[in-house]
Amino acid sequence: MKILFAASEIYPLIKTGGLADVAGALPVALRNKGHDVKLIMPAYRGILEKVAPIQKSINLGNPFGVGDLLLLETHIPENDTPIWLLQCQALYEREDGPYVDKHGIDFTDNHIRFAALSWATATLALHGDLMDWQADILHLNDWQTGFAAAYLKEWKTEHLPIVTTVHNLRYNGSFDMDKFVDTHLSPELLSIHGMEFYGRFSGLKAGLVYADAITTVSPTYAQEILTPEYGDGLDGTLRAMQEKLSGILNGVDYDQWSPEKDTLIPHNYDVESLDQKQANKLALLQENGLSEDTSKPIFGVVSRLTEQKGLDLVLEVMPALLDKGARLVVLGSGDKHLESGYLALQKTYPEQVAVRIGYFEDYSHRIQAGIDALLIPSRFEPCGLTQLYALKYGTLPVVRHTGGLADTVFEDAVLGDAVPGNERRANGFVFKEANAESLKSAMERCMECFNDTEKWQEKQKNAMRYDYSWDVVTDQWINLYQSLLNK
Ligand code: ADP
Ligand code: GLC
Repeated sequence: MKILFAASEIYPLIKTGGLADVAGALPVALRNKGHDVKLIMPAYRGILEKVAPIQKSINLGNPFGVGDLLLLETHIPENDTPIWLLQCQALYEREDGPYVDKHGIDFTDNHIRFAALSWATATLALHGDLMDWQADILHLNDWQTGFAAAYLKEWKTEHLPIVTTVHNLRYNGSFDMDKFVDTHLSPELLSIHGMEFYGRFSGLKAGLVYADAITTVSPTYAQEILTPEYGDGLDGTLRAMQEKLSGILNGVDYDQWSPEKDTLIPHNYDVESLDQKQANKLALLQENGLSEDTSKPIFGVVSRLTEQKGLDLVLEVMPALLDKGARLVVLGSGDKHLESGYLALQKTYPEQVAVRIGYFEDYSHRIQAGIDALLIPSRFEPCGLTQLYALKYGTLPVVRHTGGLADTVFEDAVLGDAVPGNERRANGFVFKEANAESLKSAMERCMECFNDTEKWQEKQKNAMRYDYSWDVVTDQWINLYQSLLNK
């Protein structure tokens, strides 16, 4: 099958969160199974230095009146995946991140930036002659590429199956109606059954209503988003299209994330050499000037600091646990009040808390290898990748029971309801209510378990033996694509 895979961030070229990890790994997994996958993403500043020399380029003209759109054909050197980069200086050559300026404010022309990406994606999908490659399937991801489904709805003469994956429903890519004219889409698409969203227009809703299949990144989140509590205003739309919605769990790229071969951690280890995890722990404590007492657990956070992640709750409960000897290592960036909250905690507990604000890929690996338990108290979590990485590193996740966290972390063994040989073994700590009390009691259970070395190590070994590799889920993707082609 020929699959055109469109995303606004792709690891290792650019990453702000899990979408990049998925867009960097699922296409590779599909290619390993013999499918022909091509990526498309904007040529943000600095990207051209990270890819192979351009093999071919074509000019798609200036449909948005902001400058010519050029399509550059190349591949990602690390894994040979072919990629088309959409170049347009006025839209993508910016110093800051892919979506926001240096103050964390969304760029005011994001609707044009991602309508242009979507337009180029739709153009490529429809006109195989442009690049001598005709897609069989178009796979869109999140709101930034959702407009492509609207362009195709407007233009298409022949049927090209579209899959839209929702990585996060909270980011619906909705804009004031007066900006709609900039997309050059037909106002006919603005019905309540189209891309209209509470008086605005939404890229994500376009991606949902005009897709042949919708997926989310875990089975539990696929159920949750049908409810008003998790549906972010789109639950009604999703309930009406329930038959085309399914949840396929994300995988992990174990080439990047395995303690036995990770080149970014000081000491490699596996399930048989957990003493080496201890060496990573000491290195992490030393790196941060924290007290080297290993009789109490080191908690960690590696996360975007947003409302979604529930990290305000950690701030609430942490002093009580620090007073019992716990330590905390934090890497994150996002909401300014959370950033300053964590920095203040570090100031109060300099020997027990280490906080780094920013985005550091290498350090995130050292944390996963060096801490005992990773905190993910999310209010909602479509899949979550950091808990999957943690498991592989024998780091026990403390998670709220929601979305992909509920599908992958278990406090107690759940026997009998899984396929034989793949019972859910206890691998972490789980709490239900999104409040400080509930989180605190899970962290206390974690601290208690830590005192019982045998029990702790058993959980660690369980955790490390889970297989959440892409291999396990790629066939689900292939079956889904195939079912759309057979329709
Ligand atoms: P989300 O996509 O909602 O942010 P995920 O758990 O799916 O959550 O993916 C987050 C990804 O981003 C992981 O690869 C995680 O290691 C990484 N990450 C998050 N914050 C940082 C940071 N400050 N520095 C380095 N990596 C980070
Ligand atoms: C989103 C979600 C996260 C998910 C990631 C990759 O950013 O917040 O839960 O793991 O996308 O699908």
